[in-house]
Amino acid sequence: MRASVQFPLPLLLGLLAAARADSSASRFNLSLDEPPSRRWEPLLRKYDVAQLRKDMLHVVRSVAPEWVIQVVNQLAPLLSHILPEAYEEEIKGISKFLGVELGEGLLINLAYEVSGYCTSIVAQDSRGKIYHGRNMDYAFTDILRSVTVDLQFVKKGQIVYTGTTFIGFVGLWTGQKPNKFSISGNERAKGNWWETAIAALLKRNPSPSWLIRDTLAEAVDFDGALKKLAYTPITANVYFILGGVNPNEGMIITRSLEGPMDIWPLMSTKGQWYRVETNYDHWNAPPPWDDRRTPANHALNATTQKKINLKTMFKVLSIKPVLNQFTVYTTLMCAAQPNDYKTVIRTGLKAK
Ligand SMILES: *[C@@H]1O[C@H](CO)[C@@H](O)[C@H](O)[C@H]1NC(C)=O
Ligand SMILES: *[C@@H]1O[C@H](CO)[C@@H](O)[C@H](O)[C@H]1NC(C)=O
Repeated sequence: MRASVQFPLPLLLGLLAAARADSSASRFNLSLDEPPSRRWEPLLRKYDVAQLRKDMLHVVRSVAPEWVIQVVNQLAPLLSHILPEAYEEEIKGISKFLGVELGEGLLINLAYEVSGYCTSIVAQDSRGKIYHGRNMDYAFTDILRSVTVDLQFVKKGQIVYTGTTFIGFVGLWTGQKPNKFSISGNERAKGNWWETAIAALLKRNPSPSWLIRDTLAEAVDFDGALKKLAYTPITANVYFILGGVNPNEGMIITRSLEGPMDIWPLMSTKGQWYRVETNYDHWNAPPPWDDRRTPANHALNATTQKKINLKTMFKVLSIKPVLNQFTVYTTLMCAAQPNDYKTVIRTGLKAK
């Protein structure tokens, strides 16, 4: 930062300190008892609709070429019929409320499938408790920080699952089923996102973020979640990070479109009490220009298994470059302690 006006140093430090304050994500209930087309309305009403619309269109127009937007707007009525019905209805409801074209509402949901760079960690403490943390790193960082929410999906007065998402995006990249399991997804990029997404949608496969939400909604336990995440055909390569509630219930699932390429579980008896996934296959070295894995491993080793918990996990997810200028949020989960679910909006490095 090179300011032409000279601020006195204490004042400048004060400004930087102010910009560094992280904050908790807002939390809302989303009622699964309401029809899908209506269930986002109470949440949307709490925001500035004009601003939401502006932000959404900005993102769509930045990530999709103009002709794709045109084609998708034209095809939207058709295209929407090949989406899973509940998600289609939710996207229709949101688009209508925000006053954007259905095609744009669809595109924003496909666009965030390129989930940028992320770090996920699953770890087990010396008593066998499983902790799960993730950083979500993405372009449009400032916009996304302002629309990140924790949602409790409630049915008949019970929280069926909790997830973190961006307003307007109906899939989940991060979520927890209370007392059962927690999931995060990290990008494993290959090719042109919208070509792959549209081609795969035509096959009626769910996107990774819809599969995460389906799994939170439908799988009854850790094993059920593992099967669903590993074997359901999807629209993009991805890493799924899964944590449970019993010792050794933690793993990284490396996915191709069709099924698992690799499943890498915790092996606490062999001293392998944590797994770190960024955006590279764990059996290959990360590229030297984007090695967030080694610093995370190093920080976990320094933490020790005895001292790992959600607080120390947050510290690991706060070291550079695991935490970086693109980090939108950090979520901490422990399915065995569902009330500890927490998302922090990261503004830590904003002032740089
Ligand atoms: C959300 O739903 C849960 C479960 O029904 C309830 O306990 C809680 O009070 C609700 N929160 C809000 C803000 O309505
Ligand atoms: C962390 O500890 C493990 C087990 O002792 C070791 O194999 C690994 O090299 C360490 N990693 C780092 C980055 O220190």
